[in-house]
Amino acid sequence: MPPSPQAGPMDGRICVVTGASSGIGKAASVALARLGATVVGVCRDRGRGESALAEISAAATGGEPSIELADLARGDQVTALAARLAALPRIDVLVNNAGLVVGTRQLTADGFEHTFALNHLAPFLLTNLLLDKLKASAPARIVTVSSTAHHAARLDMDDLRSDRHYVPMLAYANSKLANILFTRELATRLEGTGVTANCLHPGTVRTNFGQSGSGWLRIGLGIARPFLRSARSGARTVVYLASSPDVAGQSGGYYVSCKRREPSKAARDERTARALWDISARLTGLLPPAHHDRGGFSSNAPVNPP
Ligand SMILES: NC(=O)c1ccc[n+]([C@@H]2O[C@H](COP(=O)([O-])OP(=O)(O)OC[C@H]3O[C@@H](n4cnc5c(N)ncnc54)[C@H](OP(=O)(O)O)[C@@H]3O)[C@@H](O)[C@H]2O)c1
Repeated sequence: MPPSPQAGPMDGRICVVTGASSGIGKAASVALARLGATVVGVCRDRGRGESALAEISAAATGGEPSIELADLARGDQVTALAARLAALPRIDVLVNNAGLVVGTRQLTADGFEHTFALNHLAPFLLTNLLLDKLKASAPARIVTVSSTAHHAARLDMDDLRSDRHYVPMLAYANSKLANILFTRELATRLEGTGVTANCLHPGTVRTNFGQSGSGWLRIGLGIARPFLRSARSGARTVVYLASSPDVAGQSGGYYVSCKRREPSKAARDERTARALWDISARLTGLLPPAHHDRGGFSSNAPVNPP
């Protein structure tokens, strides 16, 4: 039985999926492999990665799946990963799925707040470093897993490191808003290239999500667990956006249950999307830092036109 009525055949396609060791990313990898795709799963832990690879391999009907190891919360590892992925013959689909919520504020090795670094800066950098490959593989698709949590965001562009204020679910909501702003700006920049960019909310899904969150979040998710969607069901919109002929050429969308939906007003703010793009490019080293950046955390950086 196909994973979704709207999924399309993926024979001969190469799909890169981040966070393939667990939850939605693993379920999407299994489903895409079953549809004939050659899946390259990005995982941070070898043991969990290899155990997921065994499940993906068991479902595969196309090319042999593989894993790449990288801690995506580190810019140097994202850059090294992108260099390895660029050596693939093609990349037809990039699924930016890896993400988490962190219970207490932590800074990464690069000095960024962990949630913002993993959930937003990592897909921003990885996608940008793979753009030439994706364009050369066109028609190609970029799918980013956001969340309905973005509705609760209050993104402070002058406090992207949460120096002044850290509330775990707010940092998470902000990062998921950033996923949508990124996708919309990316879609604008990719017009005419044959590469599309879309994002989605997967539903509330029974995964390992929240295990690194606050005690209250873990307790809440534990109580709700029996009522949550399965990971396979949560992967459905990912697989739809990665494979369905229905969305060929469609770009810049936010999807819920395989349907295009309007995200929040903040997510539709083009000026914020351009400003976030610009500051993210500086923070990840894709652009040189502006001389007036305060340690790389100023929103006063000039905004590039699309
Ligand atoms: N579950 C939900 O209800 C829900 C709702 C809305 C949106 N989402 C989004 O769905 C996406 C997937 O989450 P999930 O629910 O499937 O949770 P999950 O089961 O915890 O999976 C998260 C994945 O991200 C990986 N990851 C975490 N930190 C990483 C790092 N530093 N480097 C590389 N990979 C890393 C994890 O690897 P390990 O296996 O090594 O931990 C795992 O493979 C996330 O973006 C989340 O925000 C989930």
